Amino acid sequence: MTDSAQTVPVPGAVGELYDRLTLNAMHDGTFNTNVHIGYWDTPDSEATIEEAMDRLTDVFIEHIRVDASSHVLDLGCGVGGPGLRVVARTGARVTGISISEEQIKTANRLAAEAGVADRAVFQHGDAMKLPFADASFDAVMALESLCHMPDRQQVLTEIARVLVPGGRLVLTDVFERHPRKEVRHPGIDKFCRGLMSTTADIDDYVALLHRAGLRLRSLTDVTEQTTLRLADEIAKLAAVEDRPVALDESNFFSDDAFQPSDLAGVDDFGCLLATAERP
Ligand SMILES: C[S@@+](CC[C@H](N)C(=O)[O-])C[C@H]1O[C@@H](n2cnc3c(N)ncnc32)[C@H](O)[C@@H]1O
Repeated sequence: MTDSAQTVPVPGAVGELYDRLTLNAMHDGTFNTNVHIGYWDTPDSEATIEEAMDRLTDVFIEHIRVDASSHVLDLGCGVGGPGLRVVARTGARVTGISISEEQIKTANRLAAEAGVADRAVFQHGDAMKLPFADASFDAVMALESLCHMPDRQQVLTEIARVLVPGGRLVLTDVFERHPRKEVRHPGIDKFCRGLMSTTADIDDYVALLHRAGLRLRSLTDVTEQTTLRLADEIAKLAAVEDRPVALDESNFFSDDAFQPSDLAGVDDFGCLLATAERP
């Protein structure tokens, strides 16, 4: 099922959703500076969910290949965890953009607390129309944010516009591994409805990047290292605690709301990692 057959997310509503998620997480103690899945390099990796979340950012850092002279755009920056890690590990300057005002307030507070407010600046805005000049970034990273945006093609075209020639893009996105199935798994439907997302078709990505004016460098199905493994880890936690475990239970507002356990063992729900370059 591709974008056109799915409910198109509305940026303002996505922003309000993330405002509520951020405030709730701060109030109930489940706040996490990373708002993304984990990455386990190998099936026998014993990394905790927290470690695997940081590892995902490190995988991005390996691909963007930036240094202290670089300026990185974190597109859909959450509360700043990945951007602050990029600053700490590479010395690069990071600008983050999120459609959630609460996330931006929090991210800027965390940057100030870390003493890097001069290197990491987070601002409210819509990735569909980036408030930045052409060719103003050496790299763009988008960890799990395109799934919330109404038009992947428009976002990728905006990314190409703000990248310098030779600049790199790295992104993760969710996709359906068996998109031609007549009925998709109800857990995927719940994810898309509850978190205002659409799933991509991995085969479309080559054309999407090409039409945006970007040169594809790699396109990998990382489901085994990410979504599938995360669902397993959550199921293990649920078994120990003898109850359903959500990564952030305060995020969910009704009994019918999406829970990560809805996707346990669902290998249709994929995660892709794409890297591209502006020629
Ligand atoms: C799953 S969170 C990922 C956050 C962050 N990348 C991380 O890994 O911690 C999705 C992010 O995309 C942002 N987002 C969604 N739609 C957006 C839009 N139209 N413009 C800017 N940010 C958007 C959300 O506000 C949120 O910060």
